[in-house]
Amino acid sequence: MDWGLKNRISKIINPLDNRALMLAVDHGYFLGPTEKLENPQKTIKPIMRYCDSLMLTRGVQRTSVDAAYPIPIVLRVSGGSSIIGEDLSNEQIITSVKEAIRLNASALAMSIFVGSKYEHQTIVNLGRLVNEAEEYGIPVLAVTAVGKDMGKDARYLSLACRIAAEQGAHIVKTYYCENFEKVVESCPVPIIIAGGKKLPEKDALALTYNAIKDGATGVDMGRNIWQSDNPVPMIKAVRSIVHGTNSVEQAYTLYNKLCNETKNNKSKKPFQPNKNNKSKKPFQQNKNKK
Ligand code: 5RP
Repeated sequence: MDWGLKNRISKIINPLDNRALMLAVDHGYFLGPTEKLENPQKTIKPIMRYCDSLMLTRGVQRTSVDAAYPIPIVLRVSGGSSIIGEDLSNEQIITSVKEAIRLNASALAMSIFVGSKYEHQTIVNLGRLVNEAEEYGIPVLAVTAVGKDMGKDARYLSLACRIAAEQGAHIVKTYYCENFEKVVESCPVPIIIAGGKKLPEKDALALTYNAIKDGATGVDMGRNIWQSDNPVPMIKAVRSIVHGTNSVEQAYTLYNKLCNETKNNKSKKPFQPNKNNKSKKPFQQNKNKK
């Protein structure tokens, strides 16, 4: 594998344990100001230090992430449809590889919509993106987006993941499902899973644990982290599974412990000098003293 490509992949998938914790904050590209991501900077800043990479669009990268902070970027380069538009699957590549290089992206991400009206367009675009990105040693992450009327079962997801890998995607992102091992088995490149809609914290931790146990390389999680009332404890708990050895129970205990610590720290009053304390006279030099 080309050195640059290998080096960039190692920014996304940690070579020490072969695991990845990607924080997804790209939702606005078709959902607009998603709940709790209305102000991306405010959402991203407190939690970004606990992930390995950030998945976002160039607009959010430029406006809401400090360029001096050394975080690997997975740049979403597909778009062109919205949640209220005619068809979500009608996506094109909307950000150039040249721009991705300017933004120092470690990987590019785009969606393919297998089985949808625009299946052909999105799969061809994936092949083209891989051709171009590989010229510069940039890996491509294919997102197997699932349309409204499609199931998220192992048969469908295996098909979508395998097609993405066959076009040359270096990493595939999909959903966790029953018999997920089958999806992993038939996909020759690493698979990471999306978190999906907000779940109770313990369920989201169970999703993470089961996906890793069944062969996922990691997670690209968004809403289940930043829509939590406690995003920092939540990302730390997710991390303790992805990069650690925690069980669901242990990760959930850690989550609760961190929530309590945060609560206690907030309730402690910060030290303030007592301005009204007149009993102590300020030190004054005795001018008469010889
Ligand atoms: C949308 C995406 C999102 O990044 C993905 O769904 C991950 O976020 P979440 O965990 O909130 O599902 O690729 O197409």
